[in-house]
Amino acid sequence: MTIDATGSLDPRREIADLGRRLFGGFVEHLGRHIYDGIHEPTHPSADADGFRTDVIDLVRELGVSTIRYPGGNFVSGYRWEDGIGPRDQRPRRLDLAWHATETNQVGLHEFQDWLDKVGSELMLAVNLGTRDTAEALDLLEYVNTSVDTARTRERAANGRARPFGVRMWCLGNEMDGPWQLGHRDADDYGKLASRTAKGMRQLDPSIELVACGSSGRTMPTFGAWERTVLEHTFDDVDFISCHAYYQETDGDAQEFLASGVDMARFIESVVATADHVAAVRKIDKRIMVSFDEWNVWYMDRWAEQSVSYRPDEWPVAPRQLEDRYNVLDAVVVGDLLITLLQHADRVRSASLAQLVNVIAPIMTEPGGPAWRQTTFFPFALTSRLAAERVVEVPIAAGTFPSERFGDVATVNAVATIDDDGASLFVVNRSTTESASLRLDLSALAAALGHEPALAETHLIHDEDRYAANTLDDPERVGAAPIDDAGVAASVLSFTLPVVSWAAVRLT
Ligand code: AHR
Repeated sequence: MTIDATGSLDPRREIADLGRRLFGGFVEHLGRHIYDGIHEPTHPSADADGFRTDVIDLVRELGVSTIRYPGGNFVSGYRWEDGIGPRDQRPRRLDLAWHATETNQVGLHEFQDWLDKVGSELMLAVNLGTRDTAEALDLLEYVNTSVDTARTRERAANGRARPFGVRMWCLGNEMDGPWQLGHRDADDYGKLASRTAKGMRQLDPSIELVACGSSGRTMPTFGAWERTVLEHTFDDVDFISCHAYYQETDGDAQEFLASGVDMARFIESVVATADHVAAVRKIDKRIMVSFDEWNVWYMDRWAEQSVSYRPDEWPVAPRQLEDRYNVLDAVVVGDLLITLLQHADRVRSASLAQLVNVIAPIMTEPGGPAWRQTTFFPFALTSRLAAERVVEVPIAAGTFPSERFGDVATVNAVATIDDDGASLFVVNRSTTESASLRLDLSALAAALGHEPALAETHLIHDEDRYAANTLDDPERVGAAPIDDAGVAASVLSFTLPVVSWAAVRLT
C-alpha cells in the first residue's frame, strides 16, 4: 500500500544555523579501533607513521568534524602521560573497562597527527573516574599552553612546540553509570566537575566544557542527575552530554524505526531540565546539548560475548563490539541524523559512536581491505549535503502505533538551506507502506528567485532490509539515485519505499 505524504519546504521556518560539530565522531581505545583499525604499520597502505591511508580516505569521505577521544569507558582509567614520550618506553597497562591490554603505542601526539591527516578537530575527555582536578589541569597545560613551563617543554621535546589548541573538553565519561570506573552520585560528580571546570577555565578561559549527563534516558537517575549536576556546574560548563544507543529487539523492526522519537524526547527533556535550572537561578544562559555518543549498537550481543572472557585473559586489540549493520540500521541512523538536525538550536555538538571497527561505519581487515558499512551512507550524505541553516519540514503522512511512544509520524523530514539551494533529508519509517511524497517548494522558489532544480538524489533502501556489506561482499549495499524524483510547478515529488531514507539536493 502507498500513503500520501505532503508538506512544504519554507526557508522562513528556520530552526538554527548549522554547527558542523553536529557531524562529529568518536574514537575510543577499544577493540580494534586504534590498533589494527586506524593504525596498522604493517598494512600495505600504511604511511610513514603507521596509519592506514585507505582508512584515512574513508574517514575524510565520511565527513566527520570533531572527534571525541580517547573514551568512552576507557578514559575513566586512563593515564594520559602513558601515551607520550618515546614509544619504546611507554608502559603496557590493563584496560579495566574493556578487559584488554593497552600498549600505549598510540597516544595524544599520534592521534593529533592522524587528525591532521583526516582534517578533523580534536575533542578531549579527561579522566574523572580514577583521577581528579590536578591531572586534568596537567593535561590541559600540556595541550593548550604556550607559556614556557616544564609541561610545555616536555610537549616540545615530544615533537609539538606549538599548543594543540583543543577547544572542547568532556569532564569525564558516563559518571552516572555503575559500570564506570569511579562512578559516583550526581552530587559528588557535580562538585568534582565544578571544581575541575573552574580550574581548567583559570588556566584557559577559551575552552568549552561538557558536563556528563545521563548515559541513557532509561537510567534510573535520568532527569534528577542532570538537574543536580547542573545545579553544581551551571556557571562552569557550556554543554551537558546525552548518550543513546538503539537496536532492533525481538525482530520488531517497526518499534526500532521509532528510535528517532526516543532521541527527540531525550533531547527535549534534557533541554527542559537545563532551562529549569536556569529559571531557578533567574539567568538567561542556555546550556547546550553535546550528544556525544549515539548510534545503533546491538548491546545484547556484546553482553553475551563479554561473559565468555576468562579473568586471566587481557588481549591486545581483540575483536570487540564489531556490529555488522544492515539497511534497516542505516535507515534508523539516517532518521537519528534528521532528529539531531531538528534540534540544532540546542544540540550544538554530536558524535557518532564510533568510527572504525567498533560499532562503526568503517570496517577493516588486518592486512586486508577497508569498507563502508550501510550506516556510512546516511552520515556521509548528510554531512556533505547539509547547508548553512536548518529548517523544519512538517510532513502530513499519518502515524503508526508504537508501544513506547504512542502514535509516531510515519514520515519524518528536515532540510537545510543556503543561498544556492536546499538539501532535504527524509525517512519513511513504515515497514508496510510506501509513501508518495509531494513537497511544495514555492516559498523556496521565491527565496531563490527561480524554480529549484534537482541536483542530486540518493535513496537507501533494499528489498532485503537485512542486507549488509561484508568482507566478502563489501559493496552489496549503497545509496542509489531516486528513479522517479522530479520537480514540476514548484512541487518536488518522489516515492519513498518501505523502510527507506533519502537525501535530495535542490539548487
Ligand atoms: O561506545 C561504547 C561505550 O558506550 C563507551 O565506551 C561508553 O561511554 C558507552 O557506554
